[in-house]
Amino acid sequence: MQDQLEKIRIEALAEMQEAETLEILDKLRIKYFGRKGLYTDVMKGMGKLSKEQKPIIGKLSNQIRLEITNKFDQIKEKFNQEKRELQLEEEAIDITLPGRQRQTGRSHPITQILNQIQLIFKGMGFQTVEGPEIELEFYNFDALNTPKDHPARDLQDTFYIDDGVVLRTHTSPVQIRVMKKTTPPIRIIVPGKVYRRDYDITHLPMFNQVEGLLVDHHVTFSELKGVLYSFARQMFGDTIQVRFRPHFFPFTEPSAEVDISCIFCKAKGCRVCSQTGWLEILGSGSVDPNVFKHVNYNPEHVTGFAFGMGVDRIAMLKFGITDLRLMFENDMRFAKQF
Ligand code: DAH
Repeated sequence: MQDQLEKIRIEALAEMQEAETLEILDKLRIKYFGRKGLYTDVMKGMGKLSKEQKPIIGKLSNQIRLEITNKFDQIKEKFNQEKRELQLEEEAIDITLPGRQRQTGRSHPITQILNQIQLIFKGMGFQTVEGPEIELEFYNFDALNTPKDHPARDLQDTFYIDDGVVLRTHTSPVQIRVMKKTTPPIRIIVPGKVYRRDYDITHLPMFNQVEGLLVDHHVTFSELKGVLYSFARQMFGDTIQVRFRPHFFPFTEPSAEVDISCIFCKAKGCRVCSQTGWLEILGSGSVDPNVFKHVNYNPEHVTGFAFGMGVDRIAMLKFGITDLRLMFENDMRFAKQF
């Protein structure tokens, strides 16, 4: 029995030394110590040993089992260690890789101009209000003295949503909404998106306007001029010239378009101003009495003026942008310049 145990010791240790995987190692454990293992088998002979031999063989067999299992644990630990190292290597994060750059946002050139316009008019006591982009045809046209057969209604190519419902073609209908629920004095500006069937380098189907309305007793055209001069100078600089040119709008009488001296050529004449030296920036006029009648104001008692400007156009002029479509492509290389 002693020889058998010695043989097991030598063979088991040698075999374990050569084991290449954890699975092989496990199989060896079973081969020697399993229920039908070689060591287990030998130990079954213990019962037949003499009283003298028993303690000797008992001690030896314990020693051998301990030696083999120690070796087993040792090799197993080595395998586990290797596995852990491999895993760490695979999961390693390469901290030398450059990080992903986050681009910081900026306010859009149109937003910048909008904010500036609002600030200038706030300084003159105008409150900012807003209105719906989906508008009743009645507010967009009829109440603004533009009846069904009016030629101006054809000029504005309108997106119809439903019978009597349109995408507003201008911010002017908000005048009606405000007057209907307020009594004068009124001093408001109305920024917002408007829609028309248009598409070229200076026109898009959606663009931004700011409407202005002032209603009170004894408001005169010269006050309109004063307000718009002040606006033009604050927006484009003190040296700018302002010109009122007679025009027609259904909702104002008299009406005028307002030009500023060309900021690109200093009024000498260039491509942007079509050699005229002037740039048109807005439409304006004294509120037509017919508009007041639609909101139940008495034109004998109140007067007022209104104006409307294209924000996108002003942004293009201020920043020297020649293609309006660039404004809406969300290209950071464009946005970063303003
Ligand atoms: N609503 C006009 C347009 O879209 C602009 C305008 C002109 C507004 C004269 C006004 C105004 O309030 O008085 O072209």
